[in-house]
Amino acid sequence: MIEGYAVPDFVSDFWNYYVIAITVISILGVMWFLKQQSGQKLAPGEKAALMEHAWDGDLQELNNPLPKWWLYMFWGLIFFSIIYLVLFPGLGKFPGVLNWTSAAQYTDEKTRIDADFNKVMEPFLHEDVMKVAADPTAKEMGNHLFLTYCSQCHGSNAQGDGKNFPNLSDKTWLFGGDPDSIKASISAGHSAEMPANLLGDEKSAKEVANYVLSLGGKPHDAALAEAGKTKFAACAGCHGEDGKGNAAAGFPNLTDDAWQYGGSEAAIVETIMKGRKGGMPAFQDMLGDAKIQLLTAYVWGLGGGQTPAAPAPVAAAPAAAPAAAAEAAQAK
Ligand code: HEC
Ligand code: HEC
Repeated sequence: MIEGYAVPDFVSDFWNYYVIAITVISILGVMWFLKQQSGQKLAPGEKAALMEHAWDGDLQELNNPLPKWWLYMFWGLIFFSIIYLVLFPGLGKFPGVLNWTSAAQYTDEKTRIDADFNKVMEPFLHEDVMKVAADPTAKEMGNHLFLTYCSQCHGSNAQGDGKNFPNLSDKTWLFGGDPDSIKASISAGHSAEMPANLLGDEKSAKEVANYVLSLGGKPHDAALAEAGKTKFAACAGCHGEDGKGNAAAGFPNLTDDAWQYGGSEAAIVETIMKGRKGGMPAFQDMLGDAKIQLLTAYVWGLGGGQTPAAPAPVAAAPAAAPAAAAEAAQAK
């Protein structure tokens, strides 16, 4: 059994022979018909027979032999079909002597194109994301990839035009805007869920929404916020006592300006009442390292990319440090 034929189209051999029979009988039938017609000839000077019917009053039909070019073309087609059926799948289950399958052809082409693509990508894959972001070629490739895989949700300009899709070109981030965080967002996706109506009624939702606004130092109704303070306990388990969330775990910070669903009182009340279930698909399996590297650089370079935290100070410590570290290690 060859690849692409793992699941046979036929559940019993009957259909196999049935298809073979109608294919062969049709071809033989056409050959017989052509043979019959080829025999007809007119002697020099002889007139073709007049058929016994007339249309539209006086339109008559003559029984001329079929033109030679037409007959030869038909024989040619039959010859072609026989060769085709020997080489390619077509006669029931017979796979053809070339063992060609559309599935294998697709896999071959994809492997070849991926290999070409990866060759172009190779230099970028091992470079720093921020350096890749500055390369015009990489940027153009990243843009094409973004339009293909990301624009449906984030908009072709990455500004999250669609409601509830984050803007990727501003300086506010839900899950971090340094290269590693962006790469993690793209490869692993996000599927955190906020349960609906945790507070039970819309009045409490409004109070807590005002408390959330107060946590971020934004304009709010002080009395409502005060009433919402204790009720925020229902939220603190995920978003933290201070509302700053935990980006790594997918719990957004409620005190910054990065809103996915809107930061107005009404939008926050809606979030609380209805719950939210953002869905950023994980792209690691579909795109692979090379494309994700380009996309990370592209998104990083859109204007909001953050520089990663400086490396641990140990690296820059004076020469005496290694000795001190060794001493410390011995002391343990
Ligand atoms: C099906 C819609 C959808 C597609 C397609 C999609 N995203 Fe997203 N993306 C989202 C949603 C929704 C979020 C917010 C996730 C959340 O809140 O849990 C998000 C979040 C992100 C984030 C994190 C943003 C932040 O503020 O931290 C990045 C980066 C990102 N997407 C990049 C991409 C890239 C690059 C692609 C294309 C490979 C892509 N996305 C394709 C829906 C999508
Ligand atoms: C079980 C954990 C959990 C609890 C409890 C929870 N949230 Fe959330 N919340 C989330 C997650 C996860 C998201 C992100 C959803 C998404 O990306 O679609 C979220 C999103 C939000 C947002 C939208 C942020 C934005 O960027 O638009 C607001 C506002 C919010 N929560 C407020 C609250 C309030 C107020 C409470 C208490 C009533 C609460 N949450 C309780 C997990 C929780």
